This record gives sequence, structure tokens and C-alpha cells, in this order.
Amino acid sequence: MIHLSAKTLSTKWLHLFCITTSLLCQVTGFKNMSTSSTPSIQFFTSLEKENGARSQLQSASIHKSQRQKTLDQLLQGYDPRIPPNYEEDFPVKVLVQLHITNIDSISESNMDFSIGMFLRQKWNDTRLKYTALPRLKALELDSRMMDKVWVPDLFIANEKQAHFHVVTVPNKLMHIYPEGSVHYSVRITATLKCSMDLRKYPLDNQTCNVIMENGYSTDNLVFGWNPLPVTHDNRLVQSQFQFGAMETLRCDKAYVGGMDGRTVNYTCIMLQFEMVRSFGYYIIQVYIPSILIVILSWVSFWLDIDAVPARISLGLLTVLTMTTQSAGARSALPRVSYVKGIDVWMAACLIFVFSALIEFAYVNVNSRVERRRRASSHPASGSMSSDMLSKNGREIIIEKKGPPLRRLSMFTPSREKARTTDRFSRFAFPTSFIVFNTAYWSVYTFWTPDPSDVQ
Ligand SMILES: *[C@@H]1O[C@H](CO)[C@@H](O)[C@H](O)[C@H]1NC(C)=O
Ligand SMILES: *[C@@H]1O[C@H](CO)[C@@H](O)[C@H](O)[C@H]1NC(C)=O
Ligand SMILES: *[C@@H]1O[C@H](CO)[C@@H](O)[C@H](O)[C@H]1NC(C)=O
Ligand SMILES: *[C@@H]1O[C@H](CO)[C@@H](O)[C@H](O)[C@H]1NC(C)=O
Repeated sequence: MIHLSAKTLSTKWLHLFCITTSLLCQVTGFKNMSTSSTPSIQFFTSLEKENGARSQLQSASIHKSQRQKTLDQLLQGYDPRIPPNYEEDFPVKVLVQLHITNIDSISESNMDFSIGMFLRQKWNDTRLKYTALPRLKALELDSRMMDKVWVPDLFIANEKQAHFHVVTVPNKLMHIYPEGSVHYSVRITATLKCSMDLRKYPLDNQTCNVIMENGYSTDNLVFGWNPLPVTHDNRLVQSQFQFGAMETLRCDKAYVGGMDGRTVNYTCIMLQFEMVRSFGYYIIQVYIPSILIVILSWVSFWLDIDAVPARISLGLLTVLTMTTQSAGARSALPRVSYVKGIDVWMAACLIFVFSALIEFAYVNVNSRVERRRRASSHPASGSMSSDMLSKNGREIIIEKKGPPLRRLSMFTPSREKARTTDRFSRFAFPTSFIVFNTAYWSVYTFWTPDPSDVQ
């Protein structure tokens, strides 16, 4: 390592030496000394290349000063307050292109999303014409120079919050072509409003907009989309959504009631894109757990009628878990007045587990009615065999024959009714849950809500 840095240092000194006496270097073949693959040395190699180019430019110093002269001439008498063709009859045409780098923080509760993009604009400013310089396609302006050139006053109409990036210097560029064409690009991160229709949540698509307007009327400035309006990075959206169809629209506005009641027209352009929610997350986090809880509540139908503590706790547990689940699933959502898809699901599951608990109450009442009736009508024999009966109702039928049989026939119906209710529920509950599921999934897959009903 020390050896290396020593080498680097010596290279540096040699290099400095070279800059001063560039001729000598070529003679000594310095260039070939530093063509090692060590990164630090590679850095110097590149530095050297750059310096080589610069020294070449210095040697032909006419180009540099020409560029300087061009810039000075260009901005002499140029007033950045006045848009191009201000005196003419036709407006400046500005073409807009977006390059979207990311879309994230899509928030249902705030109904907004965050977008990172390069906003590119292109227009012709005849005042900025210059004679083409050899070997220079365009003049690339520094951010300090850019303030001295007129730029369109575009703003994002549905913005809640936005900022430019300034590390390490303001993230913008401006190229001026000899024919007076200006290319201007700024990097923006913005939080934009997006009103969402959550009626199908979480099986929904959301349509969001980027709306751009400006302050000049159409007499002076007209916006339009570039032939290639929008480009974007590959993995654009956070995993919760997929980037769907995209459309560029115009949304020109007219403000009535200017001077003498004239209408003033403003151009407005809009990018509309669809985001498709990937509901795999919800299947795993919400739907499957709640299905399992509903199934768990059915276990009660196979338990003994007299297993009161087991069946009660099973019923209560499922009802409570369902309540917690539904609160959790809705915590990130705004309190909208309409019914969302997840609300329907959660309400239905709660009704299912609740009815399983109610079913047990009904069964339990029936079985107790029988016992009470038996105890009151035959107190003597009842007190003797009540323990046996409570263990197993059938025992008594085997033990006692003759008169007891007639007695049993009096109270068997309600206990039998309780059993039948359990037996019936074993099929009725799963069947109705399957029917509900079929209806739910088909409605929420194929139904397209009318967007005008909400908002
Ligand atoms: C430097 O090395 C390159 C190949 O690595 C060779 O083509 C070139 O002639 C060398 N130049 C000198 C001055 O030795
Ligand atoms: C600028 O002018 C050139 C040539 O006159 C034309 O081809 C180009 O479309 C114009 N650009 C804009 C943005 O109007
Ligand atoms: C959601 O987007 C998908 C894919 O783009 C599309 O097939 C579906 O029809 C859209 N659904 C709605 C409700 O717009
Ligand atoms: C504004 O637009 C309307 C309709 O497009 C048009 O009739 C009207 O003349 C325009 N006004 C101005 C001042 O351009």
C-alpha cells in the first residue's frame, strides 16, 4: 500500500512536471508509465487525458475565447423578463417532456403520491441565435448563467409540496443551439394530489395526474407535449402498485371575466397514468387470515352440546380476532363515507363468526330447556339420574325401560332439535361462506364503479 501511494505520489509529481513541460513527457514516454490497472493510477490517467485535452484547447485558445465571446454577445441586451416573440402575433411554443425516475409514498389516507422527475422543456428563442462554433453542437450553460435567460413559468397545478435538488449544484441544465433552440431540464421531487376512489379497495386501480399550467395566456405562450412525451425508469413504482396505462392530455382553461368581460385562455397539459394495486399482499395479510378465523369458528359445531366453556371461548375468540383484524386492515385508510371492498369483506366475516356464536346460544338454550323440563316434571327419578344424563343423554335410554321411555319422548325433541341445528350448521355455514365468496370475488373483479358517483 505504501509502495503504491509512493508510486502515486511520484506519478503525480511527474504529472505536474508533465503539464509544465508537455513536450518532454511525450519524449520520455510518461504516458506508458501510468497505464497500470490500479484504480488510483487510473484516476490519474483520466486526469491526464482531460488535462491533455485542455492543454490542446489551450494551445488553440481561440476556441475558448470564441465561446466566451459568443456567450457575452448572446446575452448582451438580452432581457430575461420578456418572453420570445412578445411583440409578435404568435405565441412561443414550448414542448414538454417528462422523465419519471420514481413514484412512491402513495398514500390513501392523504390521497397523494410522491414523484421524482426530470422536467424537460424545449422552445425557440430567436434572440439567442448565434453562429455555430466548430466542434460545439450547443452552448451548455452553467446554472449561474441560466438565471439570465428567459424560461417558461410552468407550474404543477396539483402539487402539494415540491422541491428542486441542489446537491452538489442546482440540478438543472440548459443547452442553447445555434438556431436559437433552448433545451431546459430541471430535476423535481413533488408530492402531488391524487383523489382516489377506494370503493374497490384493495382490488382497485387508481388514476393519478400530473397537471401543468402556466401564467402566460395563449397569446404569448402555448404548451404542448413533445412527440415522445414521457419516458420512465424500469422499476418505477413501489411494490404495492404496478404502473399501468399512461396518457397525455390537454386540459386548456379559460378564465372568464378579464378586462371588458373577455375570456383569457391558458394552456394546460396533463399526464394521466393508471396504477394497478397488486393485491397479493392483501391476500396474505388480510383475506387468508380472516378465512381461517371463519373456518375456526365452525369447529364449534363438531364439539359436544354440553362443552359450554369450549364452545363459548371459541366463539368469543373468533369474534374478537375478527374485530382486531378489521381494525388493522382499515387503519391506513381515510374515513370516507362510502363502503369499500375491504369493509364488505370484514363485515361479512364478522357476521359469520358472530352467527356461529349465536348458533351455540340457540343450541345451548334448547338443551337446557330439556334438562329443566325433565327435572321439574319428574323430580324423584330426575335427581337420581341427572348426573348420568348430563354426561350422556343416551345412557338413560339404555338403563331405564318401560315408563321412562314414554317420559323421554316428552323431552327428546328439543335436545334432538339442538343436535339437528348443529348438524345443519355443519353444512349451512360452509355453503353460505362459499356462496358469499363467489359473489364477493366476482363482483369486485368485474364491477367497474362509476367515477362520477364519488368526488
Ligand atoms: C504506449 O503504449 C502503447 C500500447 O500500450 C503503444 O501503442 C504506444 O506506442 C506506447 N507509446 C510510447 C510513447 O511508448
Ligand atoms: C424551433 O424552430 C425550428 C426551426 O425553425 C423548428 O423545426 C422547431 O420545431 C422549433 N421548435 C419549437 C419548440 O417550436
Ligand atoms: C385496472 O387495470 C387493469 C390493467 O391495466 C385493467 O385490465 C383493468 O380493467 C383495470 N380496472 C379498472 C377498474 O379500471
Ligand atoms: C379562448 O378559447 C375560446 C374557445 O377555445 C375561443 O372561442 C376564444 O376566442 C379564445 N379567447 C382568446 C382570447 O383567445
